[in-house]
Amino acid sequence: MYSLLRHCLFQLPAESAHHLALESLRISDRVGLGCLHPSVPALPRTVMGIEFPNPVGIAAGLDKNGDYIDGLAALGFGFVEIGTITPRPQPGNPQPRLFRLPAANAIINRMGFNNHGVDYLVERVRASKLFRERRGVLGINIGKNKDTPAENAVDDYLICMRKVYELASYITVNLSSPNTPGLRDLQFGEPLRQLLGTLKDEQQKLAIKYGRYVPVAVKIAPDMVGDDIANVAGALREFSIDAVIATNTTTARDAVAQLPHGTETGGLSGAPLMQKSTAVIRELARELNGSLPIIGVGGVMTAADAAEKIAAGAALVQVYTGFIYRGPSLIGDSVRAIRDSK
Ligand code: FNR
Repeated sequence: MYSLLRHCLFQLPAESAHHLALESLRISDRVGLGCLHPSVPALPRTVMGIEFPNPVGIAAGLDKNGDYIDGLAALGFGFVEIGTITPRPQPGNPQPRLFRLPAANAIINRMGFNNHGVDYLVERVRASKLFRERRGVLGINIGKNKDTPAENAVDDYLICMRKVYELASYITVNLSSPNTPGLRDLQFGEPLRQLLGTLKDEQQKLAIKYGRYVPVAVKIAPDMVGDDIANVAGALREFSIDAVIATNTTTARDAVAQLPHGTETGGLSGAPLMQKSTAVIRELARELNGSLPIIGVGGVMTAADAAEKIAAGAALVQVYTGFIYRGPSLIGDSVRAIRDSK
């Protein structure tokens, strides 16, 4: 059934299809059509001290503002990550900024953190059933505004962290979007250490204030060279970060340069990212040696891909592009593959 729907959606410009699909999801949840979704078996996992009903989540960026939390949860995702959100609303880059590459099962995006700002997201989370009835795991992914200078980036993360702390099951610090100039530089050296130190202090204060410890995950890019992964892993351990999400989209184009839209600026996701992202997970797993969990994301297009991420060392997986191409059946299929690959 999804292949027919996909055929229709893929006739539309990518961003229009995206909005239409999400609005349909919201309506189907409101009118109680959730029972039509493919079933997803339970496969509980405890990661970062949180109980996940199953290890397959929706990655950040599909629901930037928290408008579709309940519809996504109703599909059977074990967790929903919303955002990236920034302190102030911003329009993102001019359209077109989202490109499908069907021949490669891939997407290139340069959305540029288009979002309504953190205050809007807070209202949406408070209005969601998932939050009100405490019946799901919600990650909130935070970033910086485009016009905030890199040296003040920490202030943007602090503003968002304080506002979402009491609402989130976990918070993701996004350091890896290729579409916000300078953001990825925060993944390395002294800027990374300063940022992690400040956010960790704030987390301790907020834990006391609200009487609840909310784990903080850091999301990294796949475009790592030399000792980059070892250095990032060292900093995450040193500052007792609760998890690492690997990976965001890639700026590499080797696999798609010859295809229509293959040289568009932005981040590439989907099938061409799978092996690159899994290699990062494998190396992180070696470096971290179990000291903090890895959430694996990047190119999961099939159930076997999801199981491969777990085998490489991920405790949980997320999907985005695979969900666009394969639809909701990817969730249950992935959970079953992970369960059966033990
Ligand atoms: C993303 N991704 C993303 N990640 C993030 O941390 N914040 C964001 O706002 C976005 N926005 C976004 C928009 C679009 C259109 C895409 C395709 C992706 C990255 C996403 O969460 C994921 O890390 C990558 O897409 C790799 O996973 P897939 O898509 O290959 O499963």
